[in-house]
Amino acid sequence: MIERLGLAALRTLDPERAHGLALAALRGGLGPRGGPVMSPRLRTTLAGLDLPNPVGLAAGFDKNATALAGLARTGFGWIEIGAATPRAQPGNPRPRLFRLAEDRAAINRFGFNNDGADAIAARLARRGSGIAGLNLGANKDSDDRAGDFATVLATCGAHVDFATVNVSSPNTERLRDLQGPAALAALLTRVAEANAALDRPVPVFLKIAPDLSVDALGDIARIAEDTGIAAIVATNTTLSREGLKSAHQNEIGGLSGQPLFEMSTRILAALSGITTLPLIGVGGVASADQAYAKIRAGASAVQLYTGLVYGGASLANRIADGLDTLLKRDGYANVADAVSTGRADWT
Ligand SMILES: Cc1cc2nc3c(=O)[nH]c(=O)nc-3n(C[C@H](O)[C@H](O)[C@H](O)COP(=O)(O)O)c2cc1C
Repeated sequence: MIERLGLAALRTLDPERAHGLALAALRGGLGPRGGPVMSPRLRTTLAGLDLPNPVGLAAGFDKNATALAGLARTGFGWIEIGAATPRAQPGNPRPRLFRLAEDRAAINRFGFNNDGADAIAARLARRGSGIAGLNLGANKDSDDRAGDFATVLATCGAHVDFATVNVSSPNTERLRDLQGPAALAALLTRVAEANAALDRPVPVFLKIAPDLSVDALGDIARIAEDTGIAAIVATNTTLSREGLKSAHQNEIGGLSGQPLFEMSTRILAALSGITTLPLIGVGGVASADQAYAKIRAGASAVQLYTGLVYGGASLANRIADGLDTLLKRDGYANVADAVSTGRADWT
């Protein structure tokens, strides 16, 4: 009830301000307090990481690692911070986040606003237990974007359990060009070198856009396998605007939430047919059924962001609990047993 009132109040505010208040509330100890939802069925391994449950917080919610302790209490099994770039940068001018309430969606064009890798590394160094990783980004004005990803990993890598190479944000001009085969191979090779130089190398994930052809997916999967990527995150936000009803549908930026669910799940299912790498399903997850569908389409774990805008901070709890019930109903001993069992529905 209190959460519903809080959500209704937040929704009357400018979306970026509401987001700032939600982070402040989490920092102040408000919100769910139980910690990650646990059960033997939900416990799972992702690229060597031991997750209490497979429901993760997607990148972009806590870009600067300021609310990690509060977030760790909300039920998520794992959390992705960032994106961090080597130097702090302000991002695009406001407004740059829009609610599309009728579509249960959002459009953002933040453009990697963040405090920079040094400040974020200092906060991550003080964090408590729980699985947390960092989304790596490049500065807008960088003349060596591939080098930026390696720099952020070198700066923050000692304090995280995993890192994600994000070449799929639509909000930094030409960033997505790094998904092309030659650029991607060069970039991932440099990131692998930075990772090998850490005292304790971490699993490195690659996050891709949903607006890719099946041919491009094949190239990306092969390069990811060849360069030691540990898992592929499918997907980031989309440039598509198909089937929207809300007033802000023509804003520039990346679309997330419900309209992304099918599209990102199709990419996930296609990938699961062409690579043996573990996959992380992201895009439009707002219920246990949708998390389960991603797992059955090929995901070893899932992440969400926009669902929180409409579902509130207890959403991770509800999804993890519901997922446990669904796995039990269908006779699966654990998450891993359900992975890819429904891929045919999506291809
Ligand atoms: C406001 C906002 C900021 C985001 N920032 C990042 C980011 O910095 N790095 C990244 O890889 N993805 C970022 N994303 C994408 C999300 O991590 C996720 O891939 C996408 O929103 C789809 O999931 P959802 O439908 O559950 O939101 C952002 C999304 C939103 C809505």
